Amino acid sequence: MKNRNFRIVTVSLLIGIVQCSPPRNKIRQIKDFNQDWRFWLGDVAAADSAFDDSDWRQLDLPHDWSIEGEFSPDHPATPGGGALPGGFGWYRKSFQLPESVQGKCVFIEFDGIYRNSEVWINGQLLGKRPNGYISFRYKLSPYLKYGEAKNILAVRVDNSKQPNSRWYSGSGIYRNVRLVITDPVHVDHWGTYITTPVVQENGAEVKVHTRVKNETDSDQWILLKTSIRNTSENVVAMFVRDTLIPARTILSITDDMSISHPRLWSLEDPCLYQALTDIEYNGRVCDHYVTSFGIRTFRFDAQNGFFLNGRPVKIKGVCNHHDLGCLGAAVNTRALERQLEIMKAMGVNSLRTSHNPPAPELLDLCDRMGILVMDEVFDMWKKNKNPYDYAMVWDEWHERDLKDFIRRDRNHACVIIWSIGNEVLEQWDSTGVNLARELTNIVREMDPTRPITSGLNDPIPHNYVIQSGALDLIGFNYHHETFGSFPDMFPGQKFIGTETNSALATRGYYDMPSDSIRVWPERWDKPFDLGNPDHTCSSYDNCRTPWGSTHEATWEIVRKYDFLSGIYVWTGFDYLGEPTPYGWPSRSSYFGVVDLAGFPKDAYYFYQSEWTDHPVLHIFPHWNWAAGDTVDVWAYTNCDEIELFLNGESQGRQSKTDDRLYMTWRLAYQPGTIRGVGRTGEHETLVREIKTAGSPARIELSADRKMILADGRDLSFVTVRILDKNSNFCPLADNEVHFEIHGHGFLRAVDNGSQTDHVSFQAAERKAFNGLCLAVIQSEETPGRITLNASAEGLEGDTIMIQVK
Ligand code: GAL
Repeated sequence: MKNRNFRIVTVSLLIGIVQCSPPRNKIRQIKDFNQDWRFWLGDVAAADSAFDDSDWRQLDLPHDWSIEGEFSPDHPATPGGGALPGGFGWYRKSFQLPESVQGKCVFIEFDGIYRNSEVWINGQLLGKRPNGYISFRYKLSPYLKYGEAKNILAVRVDNSKQPNSRWYSGSGIYRNVRLVITDPVHVDHWGTYITTPVVQENGAEVKVHTRVKNETDSDQWILLKTSIRNTSENVVAMFVRDTLIPARTILSITDDMSISHPRLWSLEDPCLYQALTDIEYNGRVCDHYVTSFGIRTFRFDAQNGFFLNGRPVKIKGVCNHHDLGCLGAAVNTRALERQLEIMKAMGVNSLRTSHNPPAPELLDLCDRMGILVMDEVFDMWKKNKNPYDYAMVWDEWHERDLKDFIRRDRNHACVIIWSIGNEVLEQWDSTGVNLARELTNIVREMDPTRPITSGLNDPIPHNYVIQSGALDLIGFNYHHETFGSFPDMFPGQKFIGTETNSALATRGYYDMPSDSIRVWPERWDKPFDLGNPDHTCSSYDNCRTPWGSTHEATWEIVRKYDFLSGIYVWTGFDYLGEPTPYGWPSRSSYFGVVDLAGFPKDAYYFYQSEWTDHPVLHIFPHWNWAAGDTVDVWAYTNCDEIELFLNGESQGRQSKTDDRLYMTWRLAYQPGTIRGVGRTGEHETLVREIKTAGSPARIELSADRKMILADGRDLSFVTVRILDKNSNFCPLADNEVHFEIHGHGFLRAVDNGSQTDHVSFQAAERKAFNGLCLAVIQSEETPGRITLNASAEGLEGDTIMIQVK
């Protein structure tokens, strides 16, 4: 509908600052709808409101039923999908609405259901949504009852046909659900789109597009007021207009505003503005809608890489899947935040949401924490990678899903790249040309402000997706050996390393000699019959896939050339599924720089030494070897020079060079102490020691946070370390640790980062793996205290207290 019939009532470009009006959270009601659902694992005919679900399990969402199952190689998902069950599940929720809601619009919003969901309200089918990662909503109001009468929402989830994913997907309503109540005249779903076409030091132009929906049977004169609020909650710009919306239509309105001396969103100062949209008609306010956005500029340059706010920034990125390790796919904001904190401390400044739309909370966190995002939508197009994957519904759904994905995410300051696909099979034949054009046209129509890429594992000029000419950034998956010749291969084009490395490691495990690289599997298309009998991969950065590289090898090239805008390492965290190079009994990946439990592997400190300015000195491996062993000692550091001592005797000094980004000493093992002394200039700056540990004697607990919120969701991640009687860390300990919890919380999950452990994440015990395990504690909704006791046979236990506020 054209933007006609409007009059601008007031345009105030506020040079000064005025106080903002009080929040109007009563007008648009957004209710958390996660509590008190009934769940049934299996398929039953439960859509009818009269169905009796009284014997179903009661639970709160988000919920992932797969993570509760037993590991087995026989599940159709296969170890590639995490070796956990799929199947069917039903959810039902009964709720009442006051008479006062009658006449309003009531919507149910799902952030994601894996997969093939069908939703009914009071027996009426609302729709089906095959894509397990997409957010969507239905309008409930035409079928609702008010007052004493009960409404029944029923959701059928079908994740039975597998394999349908190349990694662990989870099953069920694994993201958040909300009930939204609005006036019949309201801002439409994801109904604002904010861009900043001009950003200068003394002023920024802000364009706010608003879609207002009139669901009444008559034309309405509305007053639309958009105010922009800064971080101090002061209104810094405002635009007011009145306009006519014909009955039963949506009107798109664009308002231009200016902000003087904008505070720019950056990695160091991720400052967000808010656009507050108020609609009035018939003399009263009928909607209040809040959109966060950032003001920043960025660009990719063929010669000089990526620039944020005019300053060059190398993209130091990681790819992550959506699972949260032992929590499975069930989204939890604190668990996401912890992952991002761990990544930030490693020096990561960007994340690729491989290979699907993320939970909205992830983007909110990246906005707030100053982390750039490559937002990716598909792992396949029309050609399938697995028998039952999204390709099955491509024709019917891809356009709708792609539009919804962009519309939901395009206001996020953190999003700097759209990726339309990962290693799609269409890159190998001419169908890739038209499909790439079709998808990029859709994206540009929805958002022309961000470049588009696609992760290509055959990044040569002949590649059909590249030939389409539709990409803004040539996305390289692997092939680091060709990065240096990018300007010759693709003159004038812009580079992004969409996916790199695929190095392999088991935390705390080392194969000697460290300078011999294991390429596992030897070839991607041949069965794998090498490897270690216990399914370990060495942590010396000496184990990698044939298509990948060591961590050092890729970074060494990327740091050299300005035209290489950056990379996304596969992966930041280990994830469930895809246990390359092994199969069962492995059930989770080896690619992470951090293990599944969130414990850093050694490569973490490699990146820290290269990607941060904090003083870093990391010496490894552990110092518990057999007499007569030859052991390689490595150091990752940003000190100028390291001197290594074994039992007080110097083993020599070493410095980093441009083509060797770590230091190494080959020693004849003798028990005792290795000590690294880092010097920068003339000063001794950092000292690290590792001692040979005696037998395990005690448990030590430490919590990432000793105070958590009494909101029934907050988490404390408690690390368990096994120590000897002198408090040295026991690097090989595998004692079984038993947990007991009292007070205002519960044990949500346990893990140890091992890729082959088949004990349920829901158990109350866990074996330490190479000296460590993890207990995840969740708060209840009443304030108080949680006491966690950890015990193990033959060891002195430990207790930790967590406050719930
Ligand atoms: C890539 C793929 C990723 C993951 C990775 C493992 O080719 O894009 O999803 O499978 O390989 O090395």
